[in-house]
Amino acid sequence: MRPTRVLAADAAGIDEAADLLAAGGLVAFPTETVYGLGADARNGKAVAGIFAAKERPRFNPLIVHVPSREVALGWADLPEPLLRLAYAFWPGPLSLVAPVRPGLSDLVTAGLPTVALRVPEHPLAQQMLQRFGGPVAAPSANPSGHVSPTLAAHVLAGLEGKIDAVLDGGACPVGLESTIVGMAHDGPVLLRPGGLPAEALEACLGAPLQRYSLEAITAPGQLTRHYAPEAALRLNADAPREDELWIGFADGPVAEGQGRSLSASGDLSEAAANLFAALRSLDRPGARIAVAAIPERGLGLAINDRLRRAAAGR
Ligand code: TXA
Ligand code: MG
Repeated sequence: MRPTRVLAADAAGIDEAADLLAAGGLVAFPTETVYGLGADARNGKAVAGIFAAKERPRFNPLIVHVPSREVALGWADLPEPLLRLAYAFWPGPLSLVAPVRPGLSDLVTAGLPTVALRVPEHPLAQQMLQRFGGPVAAPSANPSGHVSPTLAAHVLAGLEGKIDAVLDGGACPVGLESTIVGMAHDGPVLLRPGGLPAEALEACLGAPLQRYSLEAITAPGQLTRHYAPEAALRLNADAPREDELWIGFADGPVAEGQGRSLSASGDLSEAAANLFAALRSLDRPGARIAVAAIPERGLGLAINDRLRRAAAGR
């Protein structure tokens, strides 16, 4: 056990977060997608600490966070279509997988010849990364197999006593992990749907992205049971049964004690931002939760991906 400090979203808090990273510590920090659990990506011992704190069963590769596109281009060789995406969407909720340049801990890439890079847009992430001045490896700041945190309180609920600090930036505005794009031999491929809609990427590329499939584990961390609440989920439901709580969408507010609405008005961005907090607030062993159908477009692709994973295997 080590005391986990809650750092305020001010200059002193950012300085402290950067100093802890420089000393090889573990610091959770907000990004526009979800909270990340950061460590110096060049420091193997610090990166190993991430796996220990999360109790990750094996060494999945981690996303490396840097403050700018220019810095990112120093850590990987981005081929032309990915470069185009980097110019269009960084900073933002997009991670790009490309051949890695030397200097990062092998644990970060899990021995792969590629690295996932991300330039987050969140002002606190930006300031912390600039102040630290090095690459920060960060998976979502939750114990392995739990839903990603979108509040500092979620981080503490899972990792208090196992990490050095959390920089408290309030709620993450996007609420879903980044979209991950890599290269297959014949073009860019969507490895994980996420906070940046695939349609936006395709419009930028002027061509359809190859789609990942749920069955083929394309990003090694995309295990089907990755997002695992205790409750049993029933998806695409028309209405809750007698013994079920309800996660609604586009059907107005849900009465107190009956569940939660992701977005009473049917707004997919609002639904994405509320998804993980809704799952957390209703989750307990033995609970049954019915979930309204979410349209399979825009952010709905990523929301449905996370819901299918949460429901799998029950
Ligand atoms: O929004 C996000 O992406 C958050 C914030 C903190 O940035 N991070 C996040 O990290 O969701 P994590 O570890 O929970 O998910 C990273 C995913 C995993 O599925 C991993 O397998 C994949 O990225 N990944 C990392 N490096 C890869 C690589 N070289 N090739 C393929 N997939 C990779
Ligand atoms: Mg994760």
